[in-house]
Amino acid sequence: MQNYKIHSLNCAYLDQAYQIDQQLNGNHSWSRQMFLGELNNALAYYWVLTEEETVIGFIGLHDLDPEGYITNFGIKAEYQGQKLGQYLLSFVIHKCLHWNLKALSLEVNENNLRAINLYKKFGFKEEGFRKDYYRNSETGKLENALVMWLNPVIKTESLMPICT
Ligand SMILES: CC(C)(COP(=O)(O)OP(=O)(O)OC[C@H]1O[C@@H](n2cnc3c(N)ncnc32)[C@H](O)[C@@H]1OP(=O)(O)O)[C@@H](O)C(=O)NCCC(=O)NCCS
Repeated sequence: MQNYKIHSLNCAYLDQAYQIDQQLNGNHSWSRQMFLGELNNALAYYWVLTEEETVIGFIGLHDLDPEGYITNFGIKAEYQGQKLGQYLLSFVIHKCLHWNLKALSLEVNENNLRAINLYKKFGFKEEGFRKDYYRNSETGKLENALVMWLNPVIKTESLMPICT
């Protein structure tokens, strides 16, 4: 992972993070205004994964002490499948351990097996369900979300060492 760096999201990276979200989530991606709002949210922490100043992924965490909540997370399509998602999620779990956040939750589309597998690797468990939470950007149909929890936040074999 030595070619990759993790930085706090700031205005310099905002447009690239926004464009990755658009690439990944189409009509249902966040607006630029939503990203900007999160930069000004005292509870929100966002980081980007970069390769030579090019953003290739991002992740957001709300610090709802004593819990954390992952708001948005993605790796640029052409970089997926190279453990970079696992690396960014490891970074956030290290942050939770460091900040003494006891549990971590998120919502994920029940059809998003890639992400569900990734979360399960870290010990997240399905603990809730939100009916019709997402709209499929291609079919327009409503899809359900799983609510997944890592409770307590623990180190697993999947947790990668971070060198930023
Ligand atoms: C989900 C996402 C962040 C994963 O990032 P990634 O860099 O592609 O994943 P990694 O290479 O780190 O894979 C880590 C684990 O995820 C799971 N995974 C990744 N790609 C997968 C695939 N194509 N099929 C099934 N599981 C997969 C596996 O458990 C994998 O571990 P393994 O390689 O030991 O089998 C990425 O695919 C993405 O950005 N998807 C679109 C946006 C999204 O779904 N965000 C999450 C919203 S909740």
